[in-house]
Amino acid sequence: MPIHHIIDDLLKFLDESPTSWHAVQNVKETLLQAGFQELKEEDAWPLAFGGKYFVIKNGSSIVAFQTPLEEPTSAKIITSHTDSPAFKLKANPEFVQENMVMLGCEVYGGPLLTSWLNRDLKISGRVFYLDKKGKKQSKLVTLDQFPVCIPQLAIHLENNKDNPQLNKQQHLAAIAALDVETPYLETILKKELNAKTILSFDLFLTPSEKASLIGFENQMIASYRIDSLLSVHACLQALIELKSASLNEIKAFVFYDHEEVGSTSAIGASSPFLAHTLERILLSLHFGKEHYFRLLAKSLLISVDLAHAAHPSYMEKHEPYHRPLLNRGIVIKQNASLRYASNGSTSSQIVELCQNQNIPYQHFISRNDMPCGSTIGPLNAAATGIETVDIGVPQLSMHSCRELAAVQDQLDMCRLLSAFLK
Ligand code: CO
Repeated sequence: MPIHHIIDDLLKFLDESPTSWHAVQNVKETLLQAGFQELKEEDAWPLAFGGKYFVIKNGSSIVAFQTPLEEPTSAKIITSHTDSPAFKLKANPEFVQENMVMLGCEVYGGPLLTSWLNRDLKISGRVFYLDKKGKKQSKLVTLDQFPVCIPQLAIHLENNKDNPQLNKQQHLAAIAALDVETPYLETILKKELNAKTILSFDLFLTPSEKASLIGFENQMIASYRIDSLLSVHACLQALIELKSASLNEIKAFVFYDHEEVGSTSAIGASSPFLAHTLERILLSLHFGKEHYFRLLAKSLLISVDLAHAAHPSYMEKHEPYHRPLLNRGIVIKQNASLRYASNGSTSSQIVELCQNQNIPYQHFISRNDMPCGSTIGPLNAAATGIETVDIGVPQLSMHSCRELAAVQDQLDMCRLLSAFLK
């Protein structure tokens, strides 16, 4: 079966975006190619009607928007997150155990720990350093040529063979080198960056294995960071595909970092990043605060994040009448305790869109006796006051370093988001 060009591009995006910084860098390049112009938060914004712009915060959150041709009276916004669970190198990661150089990590978010063990991991992220002239620089790195591994204890040495215990402090260090001079990591980084001094870094261990299509006729995508780079990619395609600006509507996407650790930061979904951006769009086009509040009341935000598909070996974990299946369409997520932001009114807009576009959809609600995940929808709704609905592509193995989703669901999501923005 020929691979759809969007899926081809998605696989490349997954491979080239091991961290939130890499993802935003790749989104930025696509936006520039599509004629979007970069704005800096600290500068004045001389916006024009019918213009295309984007703003980056901390290198890992990004908002992009198209201004309307005339007075903006509402906004259509799609949003997702750029981060995924991972292992983050500590500030002093390196220690030596006999002749083995080890790297200590903090656990970022809630990964399925065992999936990270016994496989090739690469070090990637951003580094702050002084160059040979003593000038401060920062750069994104991916140390493909120095993979590491977190080895698991052999089953023979395990007391509890059926349920091996992992202590996050003791058992998750990666082995990086044998019988070499130390410091090891600092030497590699200095060489890689041609640096005089390494100042600090945000470096993660992420799987080396590339994204691939698996199953009968390439029906499924297997990759790290399906959650939520599939959503990011679909939102990005929908915005850059827009041919002309709307008469009165702002079209935008915003991708936040820090979803996996609670979103409470200057750049997360609980931050004023989106609210400030919308207000500044209006101010720059010479409309006041009253206008801004009226615009918020007339806007809709679609929060796109992955959803739990029914697991074939654990069907009892799912609400029997609300368990989404792979390959059966996009998922509308609801939760009476508002772990998802959707309500009857906002959900109806997705149902209508799907029915008009002939896009299959399914409902997810978790069992009353089971915990439910959450996402940026409720936080972003609380931070902006904009009506919000939570949707997503169904997936298996969420938060493992090799997640699974269906190609057709992703194509359906692309169609839905395009139809929404148009
Ligand atoms: Co997610």
